[in-house]
Amino acid sequence: MSTDSGDGKARLAILISGRGSNMQSLLAACDSGQLAAKVCLVASNNPEAEGLPYAAGRGIKTISLDHRQFASRTDFETQLAKSIDDSGAEYVLLAGFMRILGESFVSRYQGRMLNIHPSLLPAYPGLDTHARAIANGDTEAGASVHFVTPELDGGPVMIQARVRIEPDDSSGKLAQRVLEAEHRMYPIAVAWLVEGLVSLQNGQCHWQGEAMPSPRLLGDIEASA
Ligand code: GAR
Repeated sequence: MSTDSGDGKARLAILISGRGSNMQSLLAACDSGQLAAKVCLVASNNPEAEGLPYAAGRGIKTISLDHRQFASRTDFETQLAKSIDDSGAEYVLLAGFMRILGESFVSRYQGRMLNIHPSLLPAYPGLDTHARAIANGDTEAGASVHFVTPELDGGPVMIQARVRIEPDDSSGKLAQRVLEAEHRMYPIAVAWLVEGLVSLQNGQCHWQGEAMPSPRLLGDIEASA
């Protein structure tokens, strides 16, 4: 996929449902030049999402499409796809977007849509990931960035951040530490995507055209930086 938007920057749409702190970290990466991209749309299914006024205050086009106002999932997703395509976005980044997306929407953006999820996938897809990891007696939690496929939180993972679970951790404390890692990790993954370093081929992550045997680790990347 070309990243030519006239200014040489990739065009991103970010989908949120709430706070939008990952969205903010992506915007900061665009500002700093870490990411050769610009955010042309922030969309939410939740009109109350705290991230919307933040993005609007930065002069970014925002839309809220309340999914409850649509007759069907298909109607909601048709409108969402139209808004994304009208914005000229080449890539779609789910950043705390808490709606399951249907097959037709997912295949439209196949290879161009990423999600960040707060667990070491394939462990703990879905909700309450940190509470489930603690309840299970795990010693490690984390977060993953993956290509979106029709299977919920099931697409190929390109990068993970590992975070130790401390004996006295609550899910809130753990979530905060994982979130800090997410904020560093997501811009790296998006940069790989828009630079064409990582791609989705035959249902697998590829690094510069070679199948990746396993996800890369944020800790290794930061250690070698
Ligand atoms: C993040 O922890 C993200 O990984 C998670 O929601 C949070 C959003 O925070 N996403 C999911 O659980 C998706 N399955 P944010 O709105 O502050 O970026």
